[in-house]
Amino acid sequence: MPAATGVAEAAAVLRAGGLVAFPTETVYGLGANALDGHAAARIFAAKARPSFDPLITHLADPAELAGLVGAVPSLVAALAERFWPGPLTLIVARPAAVPPIVTSGLATMAVRVPDHPVARALIRAAGVPVAAPSANRFGMLSPTRAEHVAAGLGDAVDLIVDGGPTRCGIESTILDARGDRPVVLRLGALPVEALVEAVGPVDVRPGSSGQPVAPGGLAAHYAPRTPLRLVDPPPSATAPRPDDHTRGYLALRERPAQPYGAVEVLSPDGDLTGAAARLFDALHRLDATGVTEILAERVPEAGLGRAINDRLRRAAATWQPPA
Ligand code: TXA
Ligand code: MG
Repeated sequence: MPAATGVAEAAAVLRAGGLVAFPTETVYGLGANALDGHAAARIFAAKARPSFDPLITHLADPAELAGLVGAVPSLVAALAERFWPGPLTLIVARPAAVPPIVTSGLATMAVRVPDHPVARALIRAAGVPVAAPSANRFGMLSPTRAEHVAAGLGDAVDLIVDGGPTRCGIESTILDARGDRPVVLRLGALPVEALVEAVGPVDVRPGSSGQPVAPGGLAAHYAPRTPLRLVDPPPSATAPRPDDHTRGYLALRERPAQPYGAVEVLSPDGDLTGAAARLFDALHRLDATGVTEILAERVPEAGLGRAINDRLRRAAATWQPPA
């Protein structure tokens, strides 16, 4: 954790309308004052993010929600009470204080309280809610280390607060709990099973509407520069090829026998929480090796495995098999 002066300086940059990248428990965020439309506009420019993709507003404390938004539906309030601070983003009505650019003109706003001491200290010191998408260029891999932010955004960000690698490694789960039956808009670091245990059945519709409402819901997203293809484990089932040394392999637990040029194992004991924490970091590393293709194993579709598979599917979505 950086010295308090680091946080104070970063808070001053936010208050002055600047962009600060900061750690959360999920991924690094690219923050701006959520009450300042010009500052928020700079986020879209820095990320080359389309203006139709709304931002998440971050608060320092759960109690600030009522002050910013006013009355919230009782289920939303109960979920905030239960899971904040933490990797759950909730949909509420956009308050008048938040300029429409933050929500891409939507009448709704995504909001969460991150479970990270640096993030919370920063937001508290800034004294304003902080709009922050993941601190990567649009469509690329999310950053789980300050180095990823520096490599991806460079001078487009005014300041990077380095809090070391992030704990969860994938983005927050986004839930719309305003209606009778909550809808998961993005699979993420809070497993669906935890939500079901808290509130009963939920619908899971990540990006299924065809509308980019939640989107990390866009079909192609979270992509490394290297083409990525999903394969089924075990690695021995993947046919060897003479050019295996030019390919990279992302395994859940077992090292493949083939002589791949680069291999990353997410979690030797198969633990999906640990695998999620290392997912983007491993993809960043494979991407940097210069391999021509990354083969990525599907993981079990349960718990955080659902969010991991979701990220891998979207990363693979731009890849076209050779004709
Ligand atoms: O873990 C996280 O959520 C990280 C950290 C920094 O908090 N942030 C993050 O932000 O992943 P971003 O911008 O990469 O993803 C936010 C997603 C976008 O796909 C956006 O479409 C969706 O949230 N979103 C934002 N506002 C929304 C709204 N009002 N309704 C539905 N989806 C919304
Ligand atoms: Mg993102």
